Amino acid sequence: MNENFAAVFYLVAAVCFIVALKGLSSPRSARLGNVIGAAGALVAVLVVFAAERPDRLVFILLAIAIGGAIGAVAAQRVAMTAMPQMVALFNGVGGAAGALVALLELAEGAGGGLAYLAVTAFTILIGSITFSGSVLTFAKLQEIVTGRPMIFPGMRWVAMVTVAGALATGIWVAVDGAMLGAVLLAVLTLGVGLLLVLPVGGADVPIVISLLNAFSGVTVAASGYVLSNTLLIVAGTLVGASGTLLTKMMADAMGRSLVNIMFGAFAGGSTLGATTESDRPVRSAGPQDIAIQLGYARKVIVTPGYGLAVAQAQHTLRDLADELERRGIEVVYAIHPVAGRMPGHMNVLLAEADVPYEKLKEMTAVNPEFRTADVALVVGANDVVNPAAHTTPGSPIYGMPILDAENASSIVFLKRSMRPGFAGIENELLFDPKTTLLFGDAKDSLGKLVAAVKGL
Ligand code: TAP
Repeated sequence: MNENFAAVFYLVAAVCFIVALKGLSSPRSARLGNVIGAAGALVAVLVVFAAERPDRLVFILLAIAIGGAIGAVAAQRVAMTAMPQMVALFNGVGGAAGALVALLELAEGAGGGLAYLAVTAFTILIGSITFSGSVLTFAKLQEIVTGRPMIFPGMRWVAMVTVAGALATGIWVAVDGAMLGAVLLAVLTLGVGLLLVLPVGGADVPIVISLLNAFSGVTVAASGYVLSNTLLIVAGTLVGASGTLLTKMMADAMGRSLVNIMFGAFAGGSTLGATTESDRPVRSAGPQDIAIQLGYARKVIVTPGYGLAVAQAQHTLRDLADELERRGIEVVYAIHPVAGRMPGHMNVLLAEADVPYEKLKEMTAVNPEFRTADVALVVGANDVVNPAAHTTPGSPIYGMPILDAENASSIVFLKRSMRPGFAGIENELLFDPKTTLLFGDAKDSLGKLVAAVKGL
């Protein structure tokens, strides 16, 4: 393919990526954005091989078919709640690909000056960190290893020596392009990736996934320089920049600094609290009583959380809201930015049930409204309504902005047990005199509530 033609296609692909990002910024346009981004990636992969290595086009088409089939099956099968793990694996694969490309370029002796070799070393470094860090985040979220921070005696020293060794080896590779140095660099930085993620507690892992996503973007951009491919630089920079912004937004939403998330465990405090089940008395009721409470309210604020996703109860929740609205009750949804286990988790779930977007209210907009609500209906949420965030210094969620469900005239929790939320800490709101609990799987409880409200 003519070089100018290829450049035009690269431009088209780059525009696709930017339009895709714009589309992904709203649930309304996210699906289309995703398709546009995927189309851009397909164009990019085909054109790069048609332009650079037409002799290998058959192999690359085969690779696309195999990779595409595996990706399609995995995406179909993955449970919504396991999406963060899947993203972690994708990040890891991106990092590994970048590091391997850089190693191969060195092995093929594609010599260059200091700048070229320095970027090659950097690609191996950041790609390997991304790979091993992502694999470990996957294992933590999949509960293959414990989700609690993992620290061992002298870990700080091991980390310092490994990082210093990696930097020294990186300089060696940058100065003389030694293959042995490159392999050593890959091994050391695989260790750095593990040491970076080991001390991170479960509740913080999704933020680290976002950070590693940014790293994978930086790896791709650096490998674009190694391969002299502008499109890789553009795509990698977009991923790196958006991943960095997302990481910052998530850390802000949890009221934590990135340094505290990454290194908090070294400072002594665990980033996860105790996970014991409380046996203090609470007030619970059956569906009939809760239905009366809801059915005679003027305003209900639904506060969804991770349990809604686990129960896949979004459609039944919508049915209940419809039933309440038929009775003239105002229903809105309070969306906490880190409810669930990934950014936008609640928006995606509720969009699946066709809940109108205007009924979804962001935390800052909805918080003043809790004072005017008769019932805050907390469906499978816990940490995001836990007042300990305001009242208990030293709590793992202290400082995290929360939904002010406690200000509603009454609070109803739908949950299965007295187990704590992901941060592993007790929620004082469960014991508040205004609170009633309806125990059971959220889908089951909501189904009973729909029937009971209909019968009022
Ligand atoms: P959590 O605090 O984890 O609480 C979930 C609640 O759902 C639990 O109380 C659980 O109680 C209940 N539950 C689970 N399965 C259920 C089912 N089938 N039916 C009914 N209830 C069920 O969730 P949250 O309030 O959404 O908070 C999210 C947490 O994740 C926060 O700690 C947040 O910091 C953390 N986090 C989120 C993100 C993103 S981006 N979303 C990123 C990093 C960290 P039972 O077991 O008793 O049923």
